[in-house]
Order: sequence, then structure tokens, then C-alpha cells
Amino acid sequence: MSTPVVVRTPEEMRTACDAARARGARVGLVPTMGALHDGHLTLVKAARERAGDRGFVVTTIFVNPTQFGPNEDLAKYPRDLEGDVAKLARAGADMVFAPDVAAMYPPGEETRVRVGATAAALCGAFRPVHFEGVTTIVTKLFAIAGPSVAVFGRKDYQQLAVIRRMTRDLFLPIEIVGAPIVREADGVAMSSRNAYLSAEERARARCLSRGLARAWKTFAGGERDAAALRRAARAEVERGATSIDYVDLADADAITVIADGARTGERALLAIACRVGTTRLIDNVVLGEDPSPPGVALDT
Ligand code: PAJ
Repeated sequence: MSTPVVVRTPEEMRTACDAARARGARVGLVPTMGALHDGHLTLVKAARERAGDRGFVVTTIFVNPTQFGPNEDLAKYPRDLEGDVAKLARAGADMVFAPDVAAMYPPGEETRVRVGATAAALCGAFRPVHFEGVTTIVTKLFAIAGPSVAVFGRKDYQQLAVIRRMTRDLFLPIEIVGAPIVREADGVAMSSRNAYLSAEERARARCLSRGLARAWKTFAGGERDAAALRRAARAEVERGATSIDYVDLADADAITVIADGARTGERALLAIACRVGTTRLIDNVVLGEDPSPPGVALDT
């Protein structure tokens, strides 16, 4: 275990990645906004595996302002660079790129990267600028690092689909890897935003994974009616959520919503976004693909 080098400017990061490639190393990239948990660290490990022993694994820590809406949590988003670097040392990252906002968005910048339909439904419908901010910053990070492989979590399933679409559409020579969702013992998906929850809200947050598990079991029992699957999940979510943005079924690649009245086919994304207290949480399962129901037994 050695402490990763922390660099602050795009120039330093590019120079280090150029040097790594010049000595034959594959660069593996893991973009994050910090406040790291075990979910993030599994991405670093996956990047290490994909980049190989001689590979160069870079984690980026940048709370990207362009992906937050005006009434979202940009100002209070948790930040802990020192703690994050210690965790990344244990997870095996070689370098941490932690730029400030002016470095990534210098005065006069005016370019945005926008993906179409894949970014339009689900979270795209509720957070209008969000995915444009994500694809813009990820493109910048790709351009600076020149990675062979970049790892993203399936926790943000639509984000992963949007980045895959963008990478294909722009002919970016980067392998995009999607890593499984890491959950707490009670089924709640790990998230930096879980830190906002009170103890009582944290208990209620189980409603998301319970909703997914309910739909997973209903699907496993042969149900393919979209409305029935949605209802099964929604009933669980309503038990804990303060408000619900969506409980939707969608095509797992195109992220187009499967309307009530339609059937799902043998593989479909079930995705949830809701608030518990004032904290917005998301979770998902791919029915017909994910091997077991998310979280814990439903009869507790
Ligand atoms: P952030 O929310 O910090 O997440 C960074 C990466 O960690 C994302 O790919 C996300 O899907 C993954 N991740 C988060 N929680 C996870 C969990 N419980 N299990 C597995 N993976 C998990 O997503 C972002 O940052 C930003 O949008 C970013 C891509 C960095 C662009 O700013």
C-alpha cells in the first residue's frame, strides 16, 4: 500500500498519464465526486484488474458544479480529500486528480456535451441539466487522462448507459466497465448522500431496495406486465419515501420507459428515485439479468 500522488491541474494529470502510456502502462480511470465509500473502492479495484499489474490507475475527485441544478445540494455535498486519499491508498490507486472548479471550467469556457434520448427519461426528466453536466465533465476527464478503460457503477445505471452511448457516438477509444452495486448489510445501496440521513430516515431508506426486491421476485414468478411490476415496487417504496420522483421500468440499454399496458420482455431496468426526508436517493435492478433480489428478505 502506497499513498497515491495527488495532482491538482489538468497539465500535471496529462503529463503523468502520458508518461504511464509511454512506459507501456494502460491507464484506468475512476471518476468520482469524493466522500468515498466501499462502492467507489470496488471501482478502483476493477480498474486495477482491467488495467493490469503494470497499469496506472487514476481516481478523480471533483464535485462537478454543472451537473447540479440550482436547488440541489452542490454547496453541502460532503468533502473529505484527506480521508479519501487514505482509502484510495488501501484500494490501490496510483494517482488522485482533485482539481478546483476554475481548473476544469476556466473563464470563457462554453462547451457542453449532450446525449439525446438515453439521457431524457428517468433522472433526466427530473434533473434537466444533470446529464449534460456529467457528460461534459467525463469528456474532459477522458481527454486529459486518455484512459484505456474507465469504470462506472451500476448504482447510477442511467449515467452508465449515457456514458456508454456517448463513448460509442464520439468514437472514443475507451472501454467502459459497469461495476455491480455495493450495498450495506440491510440492502441500502451505498451512497455519499446517505450521510445526510438521520437514523430514522436511514431505516426508511430500505424502502428502495425492498421495492426492487419485490419487483425482482414478481418478475422471477413470471410476471411481465409493466404496470403490475411497477405497482409491486411502488407499494414498498411508498412505505418509506417522503415523496417519489419515479418508479419506472425502462429498456435497459436505450433507457426508454416501458409504459403501463406494455409488457417487459425478458430483460428490463426497474429504477427508483425518491426522497427520504429531503435527501434524494436512487436505486435500480435489471430484471432478468441481476442474479438475486437486491438487499434482504422482504418478510422482515
Ligand atoms: P459519484 O456519485 O461520486 O460516483 C462515482 C462512481 O461511483 C459512479 O460511477 C457511481 O455509479 C459509483 N457508485 C456510487 N455508489 C456506488 C455503489 N453503491 N456501488 C457501486 N458503485 C457506486 O457519479 C458521479 O460521482 C459523478 O456523476 C461523476 C461520474 C464522477 C461525474 O461527475
